[in-house]
Amino acid sequence: METFESRYEEYRKAVEAYLQGLFKGKPHWKDLYEAMRYSLLAGGKRIRPVLTLEFARLAGMDWQTALPVACALELVHTYSLIHDDLPCMDDDDLRRGKPTNHKVFGETLAVLAGDALQPEAFHLILTAPGLPTERRAACALILAQAAGADGMVAGQVIDTLHAPSTQEELTEVHRLKTGAMIAGACKLGAAAAGEEALLAAAEEYGYQLGLAFQIRDDMLDVIGTDEFGKPIGSDKEEGKVTFVDLLGLDGCDRAVLAATERAKAAVSEWDRGGFLGDLADSLAERNK
Ligand code: IPE
Ligand code: IPE
Ligand code: MG
Ligand code: MG
Ligand code: MG
Repeated sequence: METFESRYEEYRKAVEAYLQGLFKGKPHWKDLYEAMRYSLLAGGKRIRPVLTLEFARLAGMDWQTALPVACALELVHTYSLIHDDLPCMDDDDLRRGKPTNHKVFGETLAVLAGDALQPEAFHLILTAPGLPTERRAACALILAQAAGADGMVAGQVIDTLHAPSTQEELTEVHRLKTGAMIAGACKLGAAAAGEEALLAAAEEYGYQLGLAFQIRDDMLDVIGTDEFGKPIGSDKEEGKVTFVDLLGLDGCDRAVLAATERAKAAVSEWDRGGFLGDLADSLAERNK
């Protein structure tokens, strides 16, 4: 019987192999390629592309055909992390257990590596082998909405510039900066497979999972260990109010579990084999 862990590993390895093949050329601007590959291949958990692949599979598609689309969102996610760590944003020195992009390549190349990852993501979707033109377009639209001015970037603006402090404001930040990309990853799998009936469930699962994921991230900013791979105490240092300030660690635990249950309920009719439920449970207790 295939376990959750073995399927996750199969997806993760396929994602790593696909990403390994990108930006390998040696043009005389290869410093840009190196900066992009440094962050892209630094060993993230790959939960977003894994979600895309599982939703594609649940929708009845050969999941390997969805790899370019899944990895496209991981490119945009990686750009968001490079920019999130810049001195003008969270000013962090450690990411995925390694020095942040701007610490290694300098701020100029870090900004430009992030810039380049965005259009390259759409390039991957719009040239994805085996996907009909309409499905490529549907996927591109989902990624544009998840990452754009009413999605992840809106969340980053409120988070860094608007000093959100109430539970309602923080929930909105989490929904935008984290939920939008995780929900987008889920919807990409359904859209790649052309299964519109799955889109609403994918979106709700992704938003609830995203909320649980970001509350857990805020907890780990306080109680995390080396395994987290990011600086501990960064939110406090930046003067951010988080769910930990509002609910305490026990209250956060309860909020993570509640959102996890809502995520699982949203896909109960689709989650044959229970992979999505197992993934949500494992993320609720993650330490990295
Ligand atoms: C980090 O995302 C950014 C947040 C939304 C908290 P991940 O925790 O998925 O980071 P990687 O991709 O595994 O490094
Ligand atoms: C970032 O939230 C979400 C992004 C859109 C990158 P955080 O600032 O909490 O993420 P980490 O803790 O740096 O990964
Ligand atoms: Mg941030
Ligand atoms: Mg940050
Ligand atoms: Mg954080």
